[in-house]
Amino acid sequence: MTDCVRRLERAGVSEALLSVEWIVRDVLRLSRADLFLSRSMSVDPLKASEIVALVERRAGGEPVQYVVGYTEFFGIRIRVGPSVLIPRPETEELVERCLERIGDGVGVRVLDVGTGSGCIAIAIKKLRPRAEVFALDLSSDALEVARLNARENGVEVGYFLADITNPVESGEIGAPFDLIVFNPPYIPLAERERLQPEVREFEPAEALFADDDGLGVFDRSLSTIYALAADGGDVLFEIHSPTAHRFASRLGAAGFVDIKLERDLLDRDRFLSGKKATSTR
Ligand SMILES: C[S@@+](CC[C@H](N)C(=O)[O-])C[C@H]1O[C@@H](n2cnc3c(N)ncnc32)[C@H](O)[C@@H]1O
Repeated sequence: MTDCVRRLERAGVSEALLSVEWIVRDVLRLSRADLFLSRSMSVDPLKASEIVALVERRAGGEPVQYVVGYTEFFGIRIRVGPSVLIPRPETEELVERCLERIGDGVGVRVLDVGTGSGCIAIAIKKLRPRAEVFALDLSSDALEVARLNARENGVEVGYFLADITNPVESGEIGAPFDLIVFNPPYIPLAERERLQPEVREFEPAEALFADDDGLGVFDRSLSTIYALAADGGDVLFEIHSPTAHRFASRLGAAGFVDIKLERDLLDRDRFLSGKKATSTR
């Protein structure tokens, strides 16, 4: 293990030890405790060469989650690969906010827009099994990963291939929804070069970047999201903190009410919520 850690350190990989531990545990099917107790055990040569091959991928800058093929999200194992964003810790906070809004989930219909790996929809369905949960993405490769994750986690989610910046046939996808959640691509294209290479070079661009200073996809999605929301329904977004107030004013301009910005655990404006006003007709 020491050689592998040194290899990653020489390659400039941050948190080299954590990456090696993750790879070794995955190849040898060990728990954290097992790994700790078996520091000096001998390893089958085939397994050892598998470990070295994965460490080499990590040394080339590939995120460790893609190297081992999965991550943990909200205590759930989620498969990831190059067609989907690696779920981030702040998105777990987004899920917490969704759960607060839907109570026990009875009679509630939820739509996860831009589902990627499926992490948000699957976590909601796991924790609120009585809610009806649907999800969409414009990437068919991402939807394949999301479907697999739903199957492996034993939950039923309705999936649709759709571009949320275009009108979506609402009857077809189960609208109206009581809660619509969207973690859109929100990094301004101009910030691309400042990102860590492992994000920039390996994660899918359509999951990360948006035009119009990061607001483009969000802004163009709002009329469809409005049309799909139930009267009085909630909308909840993860957004780019430096321009949070611009996201909030676009949400207001699209007709949503009760607009609120909330901070994440790192004290950055990160979550934007609103409601579709109840119709008075
Ligand atoms: C930031 S990622 C979020 C992935 C996942 N929901 C998460 O939180 O980890 C954004 C997702 O939105 C999808 N997406 C981007 N533009 C879209 C659009 N116009 N319509 C539908 N999905 C879109 C991308 O393919 C990607 O999966």
